[in-house]
Formats: sequence, structure tokens, C-alpha cells
Amino acid sequence: MATLPHRPDALFFGGDYNPEQWPEDVWTEDVALMREAGVNLVTVGVFSWAFLEPAPGRYEFGWLDRVLDLLADGGIAVDLATATASPPPWFSHAHPDSLPTDRDGRRLSYGSRQAFCPSSPAYREAALALVEQLAVRYHDHPALALWHIHNEYGCHNLTCYCDQSAAAFRDWLTDRYGDLDALNEAWGTGFWSQRYTDWAQVLPPRATPTFGNPTQELDFRRFSSDALLRLCVAERDVLRRVSPGTPATTNFMTGMFTGLDYWRWAPQLDLVSTDHYLTAANPDAHVDLAFAADLARSLAGGSWLLMEHSTSAVNWQPRNAAKAPGQMLRNSLSHVARGSEGALFFQWRASRSGAEKWHSALVPHAGTDSRVWREVKELGAALDALAPVRGAAVEADVAVLHDYPSGWASERPGQPSVDMTAFDEIRRWYAALWRAGVTADVTHPSADLSRYRAVLVPALYLISDADVANINGYVEAGGTVLVGPYSGIVDEQDRVRLGGYPGAFARLLGLRVEEFYPLLAGETVELSGGSVGRVWRELGRAEGAEVLESYVDGPVAGSPAITRHGRAWYTGTRLLDADLERLVRRVCDSAGVRPAVPGAPPGLEAVRRRHSDGTSYLFLINHTATELTAAASGTDVLTGRETVGQVTVPAGAVVVLRAGAPAGKEG
Ligand code: GAL
Repeated sequence: MATLPHRPDALFFGGDYNPEQWPEDVWTEDVALMREAGVNLVTVGVFSWAFLEPAPGRYEFGWLDRVLDLLADGGIAVDLATATASPPPWFSHAHPDSLPTDRDGRRLSYGSRQAFCPSSPAYREAALALVEQLAVRYHDHPALALWHIHNEYGCHNLTCYCDQSAAAFRDWLTDRYGDLDALNEAWGTGFWSQRYTDWAQVLPPRATPTFGNPTQELDFRRFSSDALLRLCVAERDVLRRVSPGTPATTNFMTGMFTGLDYWRWAPQLDLVSTDHYLTAANPDAHVDLAFAADLARSLAGGSWLLMEHSTSAVNWQPRNAAKAPGQMLRNSLSHVARGSEGALFFQWRASRSGAEKWHSALVPHAGTDSRVWREVKELGAALDALAPVRGAAVEADVAVLHDYPSGWASERPGQPSVDMTAFDEIRRWYAALWRAGVTADVTHPSADLSRYRAVLVPALYLISDADVANINGYVEAGGTVLVGPYSGIVDEQDRVRLGGYPGAFARLLGLRVEEFYPLLAGETVELSGGSVGRVWRELGRAEGAEVLESYVDGPVAGSPAITRHGRAWYTGTRLLDADLERLVRRVCDSAGVRPAVPGAPPGLEAVRRRHSDGTSYLFLINHTATELTAAASGTDVLTGRETVGQVTVPAGAVVVLRAGAPAGKEG
């Protein structure tokens, strides 16, 4: 984890700083205002390639020298970007084959950002040359605290289908399979006469008359994630060689973006950072925020950093709602509660031109006589007071399992039901835990699960034998699992596990399913215990499991719907939210899982961070429009007030209670 040169124990506060958009006299004012707000870290140069290298091989660093010196003099540390996210027009113009090509063979133009093919040798060479120059020049600059590799890899150019990508894909497949026989076997090319007899015939999954080969598509998704990861690692290696000792990160998008296999990325970085933006139309956006934060923490295996969020509206949704008063503080402290070592934003000063001029910033168009600026200063003060939280671990004894290739495979066309989404379903189960007041990690199925009391498996359609063994071993050792429908169905190459569903989990769950009966749009199915299912139902029988609820009528009447086999629970339908929450609470109770604050009222988010010396920080975030109370004691870090027994959290406000008592005694 990076630290500030001047104040290693502070939480980070700041954001993307793009001084190249402004005349130099504004820079001095910027630094003065940053100091006024308590900003201590800014990300500089994310999109400044065109200014750093205005012509091939001609580098101009004078302006950046002046910016970094000004910041260093102001005591503000820098997360210095490698500036490779947006190649300048001169580069794309000179190398048209570096532009990305879509599935239909359309080559995209430059004029926005990330307009490059991840497998373009010309891009790689130019990008690494720039990184080398930056690292050589700034590795010992006093403002440098962190390197910021690229920006949101894959946000706009996740896949490219050009000939260069085809060649790189074939190399990747050769590494994976060795020879064509193995590839034919893995891809099931016996179907539809797809057998390959020469590597030159193997292509990315370009547009085809009907469904393409699902394993080809799955491998292409894996390859595309790896192709960008190779670029990231190449940049990181330059930085490690030239600038050893300064940590490097790249900002993930752990919210709605599911394009990269971040489980493979995270171990390659010194620090996991992520960006998160609320979906304005979603009334439960704060729950998605919590999910994104918990996923970032789990990827990091501990502390992480919120690299970007917004002070108010974004500009890329259909209707961009401004944040309500107090919402920015709530959002920021939700991230900190869940392990972020600070809160950074896009961006410092609102742009006056360009594609994002209607995006909010710390300094809005209106200037400092504004609500946003006053709340920015308030947040700076709150983060300053919360500095002692730094390094404290988040308490979570439930894990929700999450795997990218499994989601990619199950969301392909040609499945039993388009409604069997995976990533949304994982979030829906996570939301059930959130409503139950339970803090969760979002964990990969290969992770060590032994420290969790309960593990939820909402949607793991694809799973390797090794991961199945990991989950079985966890339950054998006394762990509790709850598995959702259409899990354990195929192996890593998307080949069906034969002999009855749910394939890999049938023995663990003590049941055998022989046929799926997906429901039509809007249809529901009643269960014998009063629960209601959507989307999915199945024909099967218990083989050792206790049937808790079965289907009441229709073609699978009498088949088990909710079962329990020792500590292995199962639901074979997608329960309505309230019923899912009920089941999740029941499973958690059976495993001895306790919420951070038992009995906390709905809408009061409660998360605890604890230092190894026992000092804990209980974050209580009121997402409702009315005052809420909960049983908790401690000193309010933001006001200094003592609370004994019961705490009141005003509407929309945040209270953070510090307590020194050992686990379980203070709240
Ligand atoms: C992020 C990106 C920023 C800015 C921001 C706007 O995806 O990294 O550069 O575009 O979104 O919300």
C-alpha cells in the first residue's frame, strides 16, 4: 500500500488532476484550493500522452516538471499516470492497424480514448517507450507516491477482432492447448463440422451466421483479459526496473464492469484500486457500491483504494442525477468502511470543454461558492479525523463466490434461459446479505474458505474440479454453503458434467436433477413453504437431502425446490428478493453468522473495521430520510461524542464509533 511522503498514516483524499486542460495561472490556484480542502493525493497525467510526446520520440516534460514541483511544494503527493490510455492522433494516424476492430470487421477511429488494439505491436512499443521516459524522469521526484498504470483497462477496447489479434489469440491458444487435437477436443468441434486442421484456420469469434462455438468465445474472453494484462504487466515491469520501491496500481472497475478477470490481475499489482459510479436510476445504488467495495477488498486481500468516484452527477447515463446533500460523504465513508484507505474522485476541476464537461468535480463550474465545494471541505475534514482507521481489517465471516469466466460462459446465447444472468444474480444474493446486515467478502472459488462461517454460491455454472474439491473440503471441515440453481453444470471448457445436475455439486447437495423447466417471462412458481420462485425450476429428487420446500404445481410438482443436506443448502429456483433474504438469514443463523449490529433497522448500513490491537471502528451509515437508532457504544470519531448503549444516526448521516474493547463486547 502506498503512503504519503509527509504523512504515512493519513487516508488519501483527492482525485484526477488534469492541469493540461488549463492555463498555468490556474495551477497555482489549484494547489491553494487543494490545501484548503485537505487534498493530499492527486492522479496526474492520465490523458496527457499528446502533451508529453507531441511528435514521435519527441518528449516534452517541462510542463509536467512545473506541475509536480508545485504539488510537491504544496505538500500534495502524486499518483503519476503512465498516460498510455489515450494514444495521440499522430500515433493512430501513423499506425492505422493499431486501431481496434469490432466483431463485424469495422475498424474504429481515434477521436475519443483507448482507441487501440490490445495486441498491436506498434501500440505496445510506443506505450512502453513513454513509460520508460516517465519513470526515468520522475522516479525520484519528491511528490511521487504511486504509479498509475494506464486507466481502466478494457473500458472501451476490451476485445479486438483484427488480424493482429487473431495471431495473438492463436499464440495464446497454443500455450493453453499445445496442439490442435487438444483444441478440437476442448472446443467440442465435432459439433457442426468445426474441426480445425491448421492453426491458420483458427480465428477470433467474428460475426457468424448463427451461434458461434461457445468455448471459442469463452477462450477469446479469457485471451482478451490476458492480452490487456500482458500490457499492464509490461508497464509494471518497466516501473519496477526504473523506479523500484514506488508501488504501482491500475484502476479496476469492480462495479458493473465484468470484462476482465480481475482475479488474475490483482496479484500482479502492488495496490488494488477501483473506480465506482452510482447508477442514478437505481434506488439501491448504495448496495451496488458496497458490493464493488467488498469485491475490491477481496481482490486486494485487505486494504485497497477508491481511485475514482464522483462528487455529484456523472455525464454518461441517460439522466444524470446530481447527488443529494450528504450523499457524497455517505458514499465516500461506505468505501472507507469497507476497507478503502481513502476517497479519490474524477476529477479535480470540472472541464470547460470536451466529452466530460458535464461531469461533476471537486471544483465545480460554479467555483468555490457552491454546495459541492463546501461538502468537499467537510469530507476532507472527516477523512482527516478518520486517519486512525487506516490499516484496520474489515470484519466479514461470510463469502460470496464469484468467478468471471463462469459468468461469461453462462451469459452466452444458446442457454436454457436468457434470464439466468450470473453477475446480476451474484449482486442480488449479496444484496440479501446487505439487507440482513451481514458484511461479506466476494471471493474466488479457489480461495481458502476456512475462515468463513458460511459461503454463498449464487451462480457458478462453470467450475473446475479443483474448485469443486475446495468447496467440498470446506463443507467437510464444518463450513456451511448455500448453492443457487444452474451451478456446477459444466467444466472449465464449458463441457456438460454428465449423469444428472447439478453436476459437480450433486453429491454435496444430496440431490439429482434430470431436467430444467425454465419459466417464461413474468411467470412465477409457488413453493410448498410459501416461497415464490422466478426464472427457473427443475425436475429432480432428493438423494439424501432433506426437502424444505417443493414445487406446488405445474410440470415439476413435488420436485424438491429448497433442500438441505447437512450443512449444504440449495435453492433450485430464483427466489423472490424477500424469500431469498429469508433463506439467506436462515442459513446464516444456522452457521452462527452475526450481523455487525444485530437488530439494526433497515437502511442503516453497519460495518466494522478492527485493528490487530482490538481497537475497532463501527461505521453506521443511514441511507434513509429518517433518524435511526441502533444498539452500539463508543466514541464518535467525527464529533468526539461518547455513546453508551444506543446510538442515534440522523437521516442521511454517518456515525463512526471507536471502541477499544475486545471482539464482541462493544456493540
Ligand atoms: C472513468 C474514467 C475517468 C472518467 C470517469 C467519468 O471511467 O476513468 O477518466 O471518464 O469515468 O465518470
